[in-house]
Amino acid sequence: MARRTTKRTTKKRATRKTAARRTRRAPKTLNDLFLETLRDIYFAENKIIKTLPKMSKAAHSKDLAAAFNKHLRETQGQVKRLDQIFKMLGKPARGKPCEAINGITDEGAEIMREFKNAPALDAGLLAAAQAVEHYEISRYGTLRTWAEELGMQEAATLLQATLDEEESTDRALTELATSVINLEAEGHYRAAA
Ligand SMILES: [Fe+2]
Ligand SMILES: [Fe+2]
Repeated sequence: MARRTTKRTTKKRATRKTAARRTRRAPKTLNDLFLETLRDIYFAENKIIKTLPKMSKAAHSKDLAAAFNKHLRETQGQVKRLDQIFKMLGKPARGKPCEAINGITDEGAEIMREFKNAPALDAGLLAAAQAVEHYEISRYGTLRTWAEELGMQEAATLLQATLDEEESTDRALTELATSVINLEAEGHYRAAA
């Protein structure tokens, strides 16, 4: 009995030691966080590439549809920039499922379903698109700052270029919001019978 207790205690100590060694061996660094966040936004951008054509097709306003198509082309270029950064890091370009973007795009899909053919559809699409842009602006701002901290100036420049595009898209959507809401108020978009 006494021997069994000793064995168990020794085993417990060994497990604790192994866990402590594992923690010591792999402390997570800013480099790890940078890579994880890069994978998060890589997933998000690819999800956005699948979502924008649906939003463009659904939009009543030609200007709004054109804005979505323009940003689709920009987004394809943004994915290429991320590919370049993965290459600089010597890591495969791979996304990591991002629940935040899944949630935001699910909300957009819900608006498309519930407001199908309704006059307020475009206002809803704009709101959903701006939620996406704000998420991206937050992520790219953080990644750009971390790239600078890590001395990755070339990556920081690429991330800043994308951040500029996201911010200008957000501004364009804000301008469109006013005209879309005015047109809707003037009765240009009628609910389908
Ligand atoms: Fe983007
Ligand atoms: Fe964007």
